[in-house]
Amino acid sequence: MESLTQPISIGALIDGRYRLTRYIDGGGMGKVYEAVDTRLGDKAVAVKLLQQNLNVDDRLFEQLRRRFEQEAQLCALLGGQHGIIAVSDYGLDGPQPYLVMEYLGAAPRGRSLKELVSAEGPLSPERTVRLAVQICESLQYAHGVRTHLGGRQITGVVHRDIKPSNIFVIDRALVGETTKVLDFGIAKAVSDVTIAMGTNMGFVGTCDYASPEQLRGEELDARSDIYSLGIVLYQMLTGQLPLQPKTHSFAGWYQAHNHESPVPLPRLAVGQAIPPRVAAVVMACLEKEPARRPASMQELSQRLQDELLKAAPAPVAPEREAPPPASDEALGAALAAAWPVLRERMERWRSQALDRLEKLPGRIRLGVGLLAAALALKTGRRKCDD
Ligand SMILES: Nc1ncnc2c1ncn2[C@@H]1O[C@H](COP(=O)(O)OP(=O)(O)O)[C@@H](O)[C@H]1O
Ligand SMILES: [Mg+2]
Repeated sequence: MESLTQPISIGALIDGRYRLTRYIDGGGMGKVYEAVDTRLGDKAVAVKLLQQNLNVDDRLFEQLRRRFEQEAQLCALLGGQHGIIAVSDYGLDGPQPYLVMEYLGAAPRGRSLKELVSAEGPLSPERTVRLAVQICESLQYAHGVRTHLGGRQITGVVHRDIKPSNIFVIDRALVGETTKVLDFGIAKAVSDVTIAMGTNMGFVGTCDYASPEQLRGEELDARSDIYSLGIVLYQMLTGQLPLQPKTHSFAGWYQAHNHESPVPLPRLAVGQAIPPRVAAVVMACLEKEPARRPASMQELSQRLQDELLKAAPAPVAPEREAPPPASDEALGAALAAAWPVLRERMERWRSQALDRLEKLPGRIRLGVGLLAAALALKTGRRKCDD
């Protein structure tokens, strides 16, 4: 059995197949490397070496290996669809558990939400909701999954470690920004193994985003992920966390998540207005009592979209352009064009008037006749002026 502490160096071949080419970064549960799959023409992959070595006696090793494999199989089963990262392989390199997943650093290069918010600052409510809807879709799928695995009946998978570094945003040329959720089930795999090894330190994951019930060590359901996503959404909109613990220790976070009120979402975050009703949905995710949060990812997604739509200003009708003031030349041209019609009408009125005049008594006929003669005289003069 290999040594526990042996450092893994760049160039090392994991399980005789994956050559590590670059160290990317490490979190609470492992270290992530860029690597090539030597069996598939050096295709780029990401290899995650999990924190703990299963360096125990043979009987326990076998037990732990089985447990790790079950969780890894679940990751592989969920991944590659509905915006969840594809896990292509898993195994043990000696006592060291590892997972192989698609590499998100190649073009179109993905960036974690953590990188995105620290590079660009708070995101607009529209962009936040657009990304949130996709994240909700991934989590809704996982929460509703029903399958059999290694004799176990699986009814829904809770992520347990939703945080900005586990959500990637990939900017695709034709469809725009799409999200990928990473590290499904890793928290469960690691915590199961540490419990079995008797090295359980209690909580496995990132306290900043953990739900109150998760920190209390209770059974979790979908609503725990809703709480964690609420903290992520709050951070996307403001760049801040809603809770400020006295110390960044487990005890500090336990107290904050369980007993302290989150800072209400400000109406204005770095110069942008956050619609109050969108803010209210995010705050509802942060309720201490799971029953008071949105009941599912589907509901959360719908409420965010509805409230954003209601907050959108009513579309302004395009103003009709006032016609430009007519010039003297234009007026003259319009009159000249209309003159033949006008003249024809006047001729018709004159002959109708003469017809009626025939039927009138003598004196009246004389007066009207004089009037008609004057009109004819005027029309004739206008005719000459044309
Ligand atoms: N599949 C991947 N492709 C590219 N980069 C990745 C991949 N998985 C993880 N990373 C990067 O490695 C870093 C470390 O990941 P991880 O060990 O899961 O720590 P955490 O998520 O706790 O920050 C992440 O922040 C991310 O930037
Ligand atoms: Mg991670």
